[in-house]
Amino acid sequence: MPDRELQTMPIDVVLGLQWGDEGKGKIVDLLTERVDVVARFQGGPNAGHTIVLGDKRFILHMIPSGILRSHTECLIGNGVVIDPLRLIEEIAALTDAGISTEGRLFVSKSAHVILPQHIMLDERAETGSGAIGTTKRGVGYAYGDKALRWGLRVADLIDSKWTMKLRRNFERHQGLHRLSDDPETTLREIFDRLAEARDVLAQLAVDGPAWIWRCNSAGKRILAEGAQGAMLDIDHGTYPFLTSSNTTTGGVCTGLGVPPRAIGEIWGVSKAYTTRVGEGPFPTEELGEMGETLRQAGSEYGATTGRPRRCGWLDVPALRRAVALCGVTKLALTKIDVLDDLDEIPVAVDYATPDGEEAVFPITAEQFAEVKPVLETQPGWKNRTHAARTWDDLPERAQQYVEWISELVGVPIAMISTGSDRQHTIRRD
Ligand code: GDP
Ligand code: IMO
Ligand code: MG
Repeated sequence: MPDRELQTMPIDVVLGLQWGDEGKGKIVDLLTERVDVVARFQGGPNAGHTIVLGDKRFILHMIPSGILRSHTECLIGNGVVIDPLRLIEEIAALTDAGISTEGRLFVSKSAHVILPQHIMLDERAETGSGAIGTTKRGVGYAYGDKALRWGLRVADLIDSKWTMKLRRNFERHQGLHRLSDDPETTLREIFDRLAEARDVLAQLAVDGPAWIWRCNSAGKRILAEGAQGAMLDIDHGTYPFLTSSNTTTGGVCTGLGVPPRAIGEIWGVSKAYTTRVGEGPFPTEELGEMGETLRQAGSEYGATTGRPRRCGWLDVPALRRAVALCGVTKLALTKIDVLDDLDEIPVAVDYATPDGEEAVFPITAEQFAEVKPVLETQPGWKNRTHAARTWDDLPERAQQYVEWISELVGVPIAMISTGSDRQHTIRRD
């Protein structure tokens, strides 16, 4: 990646700043209007990114949200864990909806593969005590094998020696976890299931970093699409209640094979309130009727698993932490329309600190669970913002709310989302 190109063609990034489901898919789709290439750099089929175009709703899991614009090319980068069987389903669903991925979708050969044994283990771990509420897609176990250096990559699966490599992985798990009472039959079933997927992967496989560098040198505009959110980052999130990849900006570099100086604008996406799916601390959670009100108003049910999302107020200390971790340059504030009917809107502006003690950000899940948020309440606007497209369409109190959040977080809010459709957006950049 020669400097010359990097200076003219930085790679922009879209990241979630909370516990996922901030509306990244919608924002990526919107920004893709002026982008040539969209690349996913981490996560896998645990993600569910929704894009609404008129009466059509698309939910993407591994394929970048940019695929819905016919002029784009899309890459699933090396940092993603790929379930080949679900990838085929995802491609088929798009094809059925009239979106062709032919010649536009590529997969890095060094991306790790989620194997059926990873899903079996994830499901098993989630049935016992100590479940963390994963999506049961095998994501943590595939990343685990990657770190242990037992994993299979796309390059291994499309290699002629793939059965030998897969057998080796299976037998290691069988030895440790007794995956099956009849391992030979189970293994044969796994071979059968993956046989067709291998052919599809072989057609999509590229040298991911070299592919991105080439796009960059050709002057193509590239957008990196994050999955999950900063508070689910394996290093910086609410450990152990998080996902198994780096969801923050550093993940772009390792997950695509690009240097830090290649990064341009860093868009952070946050809802105007907070949601989380699965277990783990959530300081501003509303457990009672108000939580249910937010869930209904925001249709807060998981795009991947359908689970009800836990709901609560905006958590500014966590958001500021995420902004600092990611180096966010522009904020996209989503779902403000969900607050339209509220009399008042509380926001956690700080975490309470006992007298005489220095403020510290909680590190352990136990410390996080003990956090007492300091709530400040703003009057609601009690007026419709849904579908608003210009700043002037917003009631004054909604404008004040947006400005207040921007000040609290310390980053300009360059985009405000007022509905799930592509058109329901206010741009201020
Ligand atoms: P992602 O994982 O970050 O892409 O987000 P999800 O797709 O999981 O969840 C966001 C949900 O909110 C989806 O159903 C979107 O269609 C919807 N959505 C996005 N932006 C808005 C908005 O501004 N207002 C409303 N009401 N819904 C939105
Ligand atoms: P998008 O990209 C919200 C959560 C799971 C669980 C934890 C670990 O749509 O924002 P995993 O299956 O990754 O091992 O689960 O992380 N989680 C998400 N929550 N949105 C997501 O993705 C998520 N991906 C994983 O609910 O708590
Ligand atoms: Mg989602």
